[in-house]
Amino acid sequence: MPNDTTADAITADTIVLDPHALARALSGQHFIGGKLTPSSSGRTFAVVNPATLAPIATAADGDATDVDLAVRDADAAQRAWARTPARKRGEAVAACAAIIADHVEEIARLIALETGKALRTESRVEANTVADVLRFYGGLGGELKGESVPFAPDVLSVTVREPLGVVGAIIPWNVPLLLMALKIAPALVAGNTVVVKSAEEAPLAVLRICQLMGRVLPPGCFNILSGFGPECGAPLVEHPLVRKLTFTGSVPVGRIVSVAAAKKLIPVTLELGGKSPMLIFADCDFEKTVAGALTSMRFTRQGQSCTAASRIYVERPIFDRFVAAMAERVDAMVMGDPLDEATDIGTIISKEQMDRVQGFITEGLATPGATGRACSAMPKDAALAGYFIRPHIFTGLPANSRLITEEIFGTVTVVLPFDDAEQALAAANDSEYGLAASVWTNDLKRAMSLAHRLEAGLVQVNQNLVVQANLSYGGVKSSGLGKEASLESMLEHFTHKKTIMVNYA
Ligand code: NAI
Ligand code: MG
Repeated sequence: MPNDTTADAITADTIVLDPHALARALSGQHFIGGKLTPSSSGRTFAVVNPATLAPIATAADGDATDVDLAVRDADAAQRAWARTPARKRGEAVAACAAIIADHVEEIARLIALETGKALRTESRVEANTVADVLRFYGGLGGELKGESVPFAPDVLSVTVREPLGVVGAIIPWNVPLLLMALKIAPALVAGNTVVVKSAEEAPLAVLRICQLMGRVLPPGCFNILSGFGPECGAPLVEHPLVRKLTFTGSVPVGRIVSVAAAKKLIPVTLELGGKSPMLIFADCDFEKTVAGALTSMRFTRQGQSCTAASRIYVERPIFDRFVAAMAERVDAMVMGDPLDEATDIGTIISKEQMDRVQGFITEGLATPGATGRACSAMPKDAALAGYFIRPHIFTGLPANSRLITEEIFGTVTVVLPFDDAEQALAAANDSEYGLAASVWTNDLKRAMSLAHRLEAGLVQVNQNLVVQANLSYGGVKSSGLGKEASLESMLEHFTHKKTIMVNYA
């Protein structure tokens, strides 16, 4: 296929390795009813490269009129889609996976350009994961099974799984492709149609995915709108034809979405924030644990992860050694141009988020007794004038510090010493969040005891891996409602069970 970079020639069949050309070509569009469509108002907003602050594209500024158009298209397409045999729907989603796999490199470059996430460490990984999630769900059409239920000798009583209708999905900017895939793939395979509202900070790569999927999926099955929360997100969650909501983002907006669902009496799935603890014992495999802390804290994603291990509790005998080793490793990471293969750490997404993260750092540095070690180094290239912040490792903070209690969503982690396991467990559980946790020890008895008592949706021992399509993922407490990924989440969150009883006496 040609690598044509003129905007007019860019179609869903073209592989476009120049992310600037692709960004320009996707400017000012939603994807509604199977085609790129501008906002009905004609309004757009700027998309900025967070590494250089240069404008790279515009995005369609969606409002209630666009939402209504997309939801009506999705509603009109839903009945025929639901009548398509389940395994055929799966095949279509698997075909989308194959197309995306062919386009991984262009998608990776585009997501690096618009979000500031480094190509090698983050963006390419995310683009590949999207294909993996679609492939996984593509094989699950045949699993939309019901049961036969004993009732009476001459009555056949069975349950069948039916789709819910139009799904409204609202996604954030930190891992937009993956988080969108985890919502749309199970929704579509289960026979629903979908309207996604992308995050205003990252509208382009997700739009490209929709355009690519439009090669396979019938028009209207899958729509995406760009726009802001109150103007475009709110009318989507409130639209009467939207029969299921799924949201990933902040706790306050999660509450708004949940209230809207309650008013309409429709189901909702929420994946919200986290303040995930790591519990490290002196008997751990030290080198593996230090490496694990780096990945757990998502330093390469600038800490912009709901699962980031932002509270690291370390048993006192190895505390100083651990902090020094971690700082040394982070120092060796390269901050720079997200599109450069040498870069480990890119930029924060936006000025708003940078100010937020910087506010936490300033507060930490001003706290009596606290030390905040700035690691790595700012990029030297003057063109990289964007939202770079050096990673910070804090020690010596009091338990009530906001850096310990609140989600920072930046490259700021807090390391705290402990003397016994019960004390560490109590501190780990003393949080409004409960998304993920990890325990690092070679004492299996202790690891299992803690794994059972940690208040979190996901507990890992001696590892901290990213989400896998077949593992249920989701938090307790303020971290959310319901699970994503896995067969069970498709069945529980994107279908309802109908009972059919046949009396043949
Ligand atoms: P946000 O919750 O405001 O935005 C997430 C999505 O919700 C975006 O698409 C946004 O346009 C939409 N939205 C905003 N207001 C809405 C409304 N009234 N109705 C419907 N949709 C609405 O999160 P934001 O401002 O991007 O980040 C703030 C903080 O939230 C972060 O610092 C982080 O702590 C947390 N967050 C957590 C994420 C996670 O993965 N769980 C992802 C993004 C943010
Ligand atoms: Mg917000």
